[in-house]
Amino acid sequence: MAPPDPLASIVVRALRATEAVALLPALNDVLAAAYHQPDFHGALGRRVTIQPDGFVVAVDEAHGAGRVVGCGTAVAYPDAGYGWLGLIATHPDHERRGIGAAVTTALVAVLEGYGCAAALDASAAGHPLYLRLGFEEAGTTTVLAATTSTPGADPGPDSAEPMTAADLAAVVELDRAATGADRTRLIGCLWSEQPNRALVVRRDGALVGFGFATDWSLAPVIALDDEALRALLDAALRLPFAVAPSVLVPPGSDHGPTLEAFSFRPRRTLVHMQRGVSRLPGQRGCIAGMASLGEG
Ligand SMILES: CC(C)(COP(=O)(O)OP(=O)(O)OC[C@H]1O[C@@H](n2cnc3c(N)ncnc32)[C@H](O)[C@@H]1OP(=O)(O)O)[C@@H](O)C(=O)NCCC(=O)NCCS
Repeated sequence: MAPPDPLASIVVRALRATEAVALLPALNDVLAAAYHQPDFHGALGRRVTIQPDGFVVAVDEAHGAGRVVGCGTAVAYPDAGYGWLGLIATHPDHERRGIGAAVTTALVAVLEGYGCAAALDASAAGHPLYLRLGFEEAGTTTVLAATTSTPGADPGPDSAEPMTAADLAAVVELDRAATGADRTRLIGCLWSEQPNRALVVRRDGALVGFGFATDWSLAPVIALDDEALRALLDAALRLPFAVAPSVLVPPGSDHGPTLEAFSFRPRRTLVHMQRGVSRLPGQRGCIAGMASLGEG
């Protein structure tokens, strides 16, 4: 007799628009249990806004109406030919049944539907899974955290100013130069979330850097050069934070030494991985901090 199929009662499918609001608490529960962090509502809400068709859920139909036991998100940047996977999680009670692999395979298919290759930043738990699914290692993404609450380093000759709505078009263009992608929707979300914690640096009337801060992170931070980054960090670190702010530094960033001068130190590393593309477009050295681990 054939062994029982461990995925027999599991359905892996797209999140339906009509159920998104109702299922957010269940998705949050899965993520909280998998990542040992309490609150993913902000990240989930933003992902639903920028790529509503990029949600994949694994539902265990053995439990009456169905219980969410796994999830993941995809964000496509079709003009750039790549997208990002994130928030991949299986509830700890349901690991090692193939759910993570099925969710990741479905997310890759979502990106392929947009003509996009896939990038992600792998935890130690996810790394073997992604290797098996054909992802290749492409450097290290480093989570840095500030170790002082004051800037304390040479701010350089530039100065940062608050971002205004009139800056948004230029912010999207600078972001596109760095990432190769039109991320208008993402920048719009960031602006609506933190309009009072967004900064730009101008030189001779042109934007040379921008950054957004939450009360726990600087994300994203893009600077054409070291002077622009110094001005951004000097201003950003004067904002109030609930915890020491962190920055997600992607592989190939030119900005590690300046972040270090401003007291940022490594807290954690992830393996950056790509499938279907060997080199992402854009001037990626300009990216001091990514928007998030699920958006690049
Ligand atoms: C990483 C994570 C998503 C994997 O989820 P999962 O559902 O356990 O993934 P899978 O079941 O597809 O694969 C996990 C392992 O179980 C094995 N497995 C799959 N089906 C199996 C089965 N029926 N019997 C025994 N083992 C099985 C796989 O071969 C794999 O083994 P390996 O890691 O040694 O290669 C999950 O552990 C998790 O949520 N971790 C915390 C959050 C996290 O780190 N997410 C990834 C961020 S990049």
